[in-house]
Amino acid sequence: DTTVTVAPATLDFTAVPKSLADIVAVPSGYQVTVLYRLGDPINASVGAYANDGTDATFSARAGDHHDGMSFFGLAATGTTPDANSSTRGVLVLNHENITQNYLHPNGPTSVAGARPTAEVLKEMECHGVSVIEIARGTSGWAYAPTSSLNRRITPFTPTSFSGPVAGSGLLFTAFSPTGRAGRGTINNCANGTMPWMTYLTNEENWAGYFRRDTGDNARRTAAVSAKSSVAFARYGLSERGGNYNWTTAAAPAAGDTRIAKFNATIDPTLPANGTGDFRNEPNQYGWVVEIDPFDPASTPRKRTALGRMNHEGCVVGRTVAGIKPAFYMGDDAQNEYLYKFVSATPWAAADATTTNRLAIGDKYLDSGTLYVAKLAADGSGQWLPLVFGQGPLTAANAAYAFADQADVLTHARLAGDALGATRMDRPEWTAVNPVNGEMYLTLTNNSSRTVATTDAANPRAYTDPKTTGGSTSGNPNGHVIRLRESGDTSEALAFTWDIYAFGAGSDLNPANINLSNLDATNDFSSPDGLWFARPSNVAGQGTPLMWIETDDGAYTDVTNCMLLAAIPGSVGDGGTRTITNSLNGATASQTTRIGKAPGTNLKRFLVGPKECEITGIDSTPDGRAIFVNIQHPGENGNPAAITSNWPQSQATGTGTGRPRSATIVITKTDGGIIGL
Ligand code: FEO
Ligand code: CA
Ligand code: CA
Ligand code: CA
Repeated sequence: DTTVTVAPATLDFTAVPKSLADIVAVPSGYQVTVLYRLGDPINASVGAYANDGTDATFSARAGDHHDGMSFFGLAATGTTPDANSSTRGVLVLNHENITQNYLHPNGPTSVAGARPTAEVLKEMECHGVSVIEIARGTSGWAYAPTSSLNRRITPFTPTSFSGPVAGSGLLFTAFSPTGRAGRGTINNCANGTMPWMTYLTNEENWAGYFRRDTGDNARRTAAVSAKSSVAFARYGLSERGGNYNWTTAAAPAAGDTRIAKFNATIDPTLPANGTGDFRNEPNQYGWVVEIDPFDPASTPRKRTALGRMNHEGCVVGRTVAGIKPAFYMGDDAQNEYLYKFVSATPWAAADATTTNRLAIGDKYLDSGTLYVAKLAADGSGQWLPLVFGQGPLTAANAAYAFADQADVLTHARLAGDALGATRMDRPEWTAVNPVNGEMYLTLTNNSSRTVATTDAANPRAYTDPKTTGGSTSGNPNGHVIRLRESGDTSEALAFTWDIYAFGAGSDLNPANINLSNLDATNDFSSPDGLWFARPSNVAGQGTPLMWIETDDGAYTDVTNCMLLAAIPGSVGDGGTRTITNSLNGATASQTTRIGKAPGTNLKRFLVGPKECEITGIDSTPDGRAIFVNIQHPGENGNPAAITSNWPQSQATGTGTGRPRSATIVITKTDGGIIGL
């Protein structure tokens, strides 16, 4: 579809030094504008954000913990999409989680006892997704606080289920007795930008929000099935109170189950099929959710064909007319898998359109085949299909008896186990090189990796001597892996792979830790966000830049989290390397394929403020404005001991008041293309 020409290029900016300052630092020649902060109003029903814990009505304000994000162009006036616009658009972004302490005057009123209902509803509404109109005016980029396109999607917004699991008894709840309706989305992480101009948001750490009282495993086994208990355990749904103890709060009114739905504890007197309570509510989360950014009245659709997991990103590969497109997805938990979904529908170029958006989503995302990745030591790999009745995915499987395709997709992890997929070091974002179609995947870190469980694709086990927090050993610094589909087609069942780069402090041992020879201009730890420049940007400039964002706890004694730009090379441009691992008294070597050391083709472009994660990234089609999210600055503080004042500190490095997650826009002072 998009013709792209590759030309030699270098990263034309001076690397930003590592920093612990309370500021977003960018190279000289670039400028930062704070665009959309926690609490900013999206309609006229609320006033300016007081930022003192007294604010309410987050259904009309920006939520917290900005994460994945996409830009969709708008025509010069009105609400008509224009894919080519670089001056006006809608920005869609996730609000993954909350920094609870800053949302109330003095932190939460009670933590362990019964929580006030208003506090709980406020915290819930700070989650979800924002859709906001933005435009470039004479004084730069700003959002339109009263646009009719502005929308908040929260844990209360009605959703619908589509694909093979819709209507399955696994989804029956008191709210959804037919398993087709849903309510809300939560812990939305990373994104996907569809060619038909919709946004994919991904439900990641949803399991932690659910309460299950002690004894629910036994009750579940008796009242539902032993399989249900096995499945809940596999998805981390343990017997616990649930994040923030939300369900200790009283219902806002009789029959209002917005809080009660987070209690999955079984009442054995209610129907075994789940239509009387919320025993199945956890099955309604863990999906990829498609949102139409241009229709605020539209119902987000949970696309069950893409499987249920801790979804982190869903990125479409190159689209080629007549070929079935692929969608790449990480499952972010320790030792989980990489997946791809191949649509049943070959790509038609006419579907890169701006109309009938969710109907086109139905066409490509509701039927197809989900695959899980198995990576071999020789640099080859296979995509294994998650199809009921094939291989071990049958009722006869001893570990978990699969009943049908809905069961396989709802329990994709159990299917991956049965198929022998490769256990990765926390698969986060994927990104596809628009020039050669290669897919990159961040493996952020894995504190549970041991010498004995290393493999060629997850080959390091060590202790990072610099670490003062976060994961100290295993694979504390993470790496970025990449693969090339056999025959360069999205329909491939096999691929080759190597490791693009290993995270590490530049002063760490190049024999077993700093294997990519990172230096002071590009050393990083815990890669998470990952994004390739838009093809339209690439076509104008000739080289696809790749951007890497970090969410780190291992190098944060030296530097705040960062954004790096890369000119990435390709699979097989390096060689084979043998690493001697030593950890906890065990020593053994691992041989793997490692790409050419990035050298000057990887440079630090931005360092964020204190205690933040850098995440979410997109640009205008012309590449002259890049949007980035600063998530949870000062997350370890509280109202009595504030640990960051960002974004109030952006101008000078100091400021006052509570920190706020925010979207920033970066432009070049001369109006040029970012990074080149
Ligand atoms: Fe929400 Fe795995 O990052
Ligand atoms: Ca992430
Ligand atoms: Ca992360
Ligand atoms: Ca985070």
